[in-house]
Amino acid sequence: MDYLEIKGGDKLSGEIRVSGAKNAALPILAATILAKNPARITNLPNVADIKTFLKLLNLLGGESQFDAENHTAIVDTRDLKFTTATYEIVKTMRASILALGPLLARFGECRVSLPGGCAIGQRPVDLHLKALEKMGAEIVISEGYIYAKAPTGGLKGATIVFDKITVTGSENIIMAAALARGETRIINAAKEPEVEQICEILKAAGVKIKGAGESEIVVQGTAGELVDFAAIDVISDRIETGTYLCAAAIANSPLTLTCAAPRHLTAVTDKLAEMGFGFDFTRDSISIKPAAEIRAANVVTSEYPGFPTDMQAQLMALATQANGASVIEERLFENRFMHVSELTRMGAKIALRGNTATVTGGGLIGADVMATDLRASSALVLAALAARGTSRVHRIYHLDRGYENLETKLRSIGAKIERKKEK
Ligand code: EPZ
Repeated sequence: MDYLEIKGGDKLSGEIRVSGAKNAALPILAATILAKNPARITNLPNVADIKTFLKLLNLLGGESQFDAENHTAIVDTRDLKFTTATYEIVKTMRASILALGPLLARFGECRVSLPGGCAIGQRPVDLHLKALEKMGAEIVISEGYIYAKAPTGGLKGATIVFDKITVTGSENIIMAAALARGETRIINAAKEPEVEQICEILKAAGVKIKGAGESEIVVQGTAGELVDFAAIDVISDRIETGTYLCAAAIANSPLTLTCAAPRHLTAVTDKLAEMGFGFDFTRDSISIKPAAEIRAANVVTSEYPGFPTDMQAQLMALATQANGASVIEERLFENRFMHVSELTRMGAKIALRGNTATVTGGGLIGADVMATDLRASSALVLAALAARGTSRVHRIYHLDRGYENLETKLRSIGAKIERKKEK
């Protein structure tokens, strides 16, 4: 297994090109199950989760060529013939659940392994299943698998009210509704840019959809007619963008991020501005400028467009450098503070009470720390950039799931960071 060795304390400067969004690319790859012709996808991030989803599509009988160098894939699902997403693949990537809606819509039945929980929480999929039942599906859970069967003639349009806002739940139902018979109204849908993009690519493929990016989405299904995608260019990764903004902020250094989408992370740049950092924006770039003094700030995570839960750990690492105490409340996941104990080992002063962490600013000292989940790992890297001395972040396979060339990008702006092999 690899680890990252980081010598902290240096100022950073320069420019980083943001990659395509993993959490937009995953539902897009799932949507290719609905296609009658090969789909060409550009700006695909070269990260482990994307390779895993392409492997899933190939296991189902699809064909995909991924030119990682050029971030482009051609995905051909014309010969898809298997309809089981096995435990072997789902246990490595929970987002495989995104195959459920499209497989059921196209083939009328499928088996998808229940994604287990993960470090950040139990992560149930009950809302996905309840919504599909509303569309006429018969769902049976047995031996760790979801067995789903559509009614004769295929899934029926329905009115779906989500009890909780669910990103992949919304995406699953939008894709199922695209091939259903009749109209589906989704109420309390997720408004993330990644959900908006899946609506946009289906609209460009001829599916009638109203309310993309809003909390109410109406889909007119094609009654089983497969779709023909136009060329798809994945939107930029707002969480990767926010992570590198926090890297510059924690080193109190200037940085420009290009190929970014500033309007997708207003809650993050607003919060960093509140902490004292300056910003310049263009349509597709963000430049952060050092703070005269890094001020403490309070954060409550919420669904888009609120402060993203996927940025909570990174903001917590930055808060260790602020003057005063920052109160961070995690409202989406029940166990998304796994990074707290590791940051504490680096000298961070963090008091935990339920889903609220109070971080008191003070210096950090380099240490050996362990990554537990994707965003917690990035928070440990950020902390190591500010810590005095050397840190080693272990189990960075978590990082490789969602960050493309993280150490190369950080080295390019002056960080002393190296990937090494555990002895
Ligand atoms: C997506 O996960 C993202 N993953 C997550 O990013 C992100 O943290 C999360 O949305 C919230 O923004 C992808 O898009 C692939 P949810 P998802 O369904 O869809 C509860 C990362 O770091 N819930 O919106 O699984 C759930 O337990 C990852 O890239 C149910 O109770 O999240 C949670 O408390 C981590 N029943 C809340 O809703 C359900 O059926 C939001 O979950 C579904 C969800």
